Amino acid sequence: MGDGLPSGEERARLVREMFDRIARRYELMNVVMTAGMNRIWNKKAVQATKLRTGGRALDLACGTGSLTRDLASEVGPAGYVLGVDFSPEMLRAAKSRPLPNVEYRVGDATRLEGVPSEGFDAATIAYGARNIPDLDALFSEMTRCVRPGGRVVCLEISRPPGKVFGAFYGLWFDRIVPKLGAGISGDPKAYAYLPESVKEFVVPDDLAAIMESNGLQNVTWKRLAGSIITLHSGERPGCP
Ligand SMILES: C[S@@+](CC[C@H](N)C(=O)[O-])C[C@H]1O[C@@H](n2cnc3c(N)ncnc32)[C@H](O)[C@@H]1O
Repeated sequence: MGDGLPSGEERARLVREMFDRIARRYELMNVVMTAGMNRIWNKKAVQATKLRTGGRALDLACGTGSLTRDLASEVGPAGYVLGVDFSPEMLRAAKSRPLPNVEYRVGDATRLEGVPSEGFDAATIAYGARNIPDLDALFSEMTRCVRPGGRVVCLEISRPPGKVFGAFYGLWFDRIVPKLGAGISGDPKAYAYLPESVKEFVVPDDLAAIMESNGLQNVTWKRLAGSIITLHSGERPGCP
C-alpha cells in the first residue's frame, strides 16, 4: 500500500493479506518495536475495561491474541473471552497458545455475525481501529455487544503533538521501524504501511466524538508513553 491508502473492501483485503503474511513474526516485531512496553499498555487497556473475575470480554482485531490473553487472565477460569479477527493466519498464531477460557473466531469487526447483543461486560480493540476505515460501523458493533454499563476500550498508536516526542516519533516510526520491520518480518510493505496508517488515523478528540456518536457515554482518553499511544474508553448507558 503506497501513498493515500485505499478504502472499503480493497483496503480490507490488502490489510488482511498483509497480516496473513507477517503473522509468524508479528509478536516478536511488537516487542522489538516497543522495547517490550506493549505489555504495559495492554495492562492499562485491561484496567480500563473494569472487568472482574468471571467477566466476559470481546477482543476485536485480536490478531495473535496478545491482549486477548491478558483479558483472559483478568477474568480468570470462570470468565470468558472471545477474540475475533479477519486474518486466518493471525488467528492460527493465536490458537497455537490455547487457553480454556478463550475462543477465537474469524470475523469482520464491523459486521459481527453471530456475536450476541449485550453479551459482554467489555469490548476492546488494540491497534486495530486505524486499520478500519468505517469507524462508525466498528464502534456501533462494539456498543451493541456490551451490556448496559459495559465498557468499550480502544488502544492505538498516535502521533505525539509536542516537538520532543514528535521528533522521536518521526525518527523511530517513520524511519527505523519500517527498516526493522522489513528485516524481521521480511515484508517491507507491511512496516511502511504502519506509519502511513497512523498518519491517516483520526486525532484523539475526533475518535472520542465518534465513540460518543455511536452510543457511548463518559468517553475519556489519555496519552501513554509520551503520547505515542492513546487509550480511549467509554461506557454503554444504562444500569449494569
Ligand atoms: C496491528 S494488529 C493488532 C493485533 C492485536 N490486537 C494486538 O494487540 O497485537 C491489527 C489486527 O487487526 C485485524 N483487522 C484489521 N481490520 C479488521 C477487521 N475489519 N475485522 C477484523 N479484524 C481486522 C488484522 O487482521 C490484524 O490482526
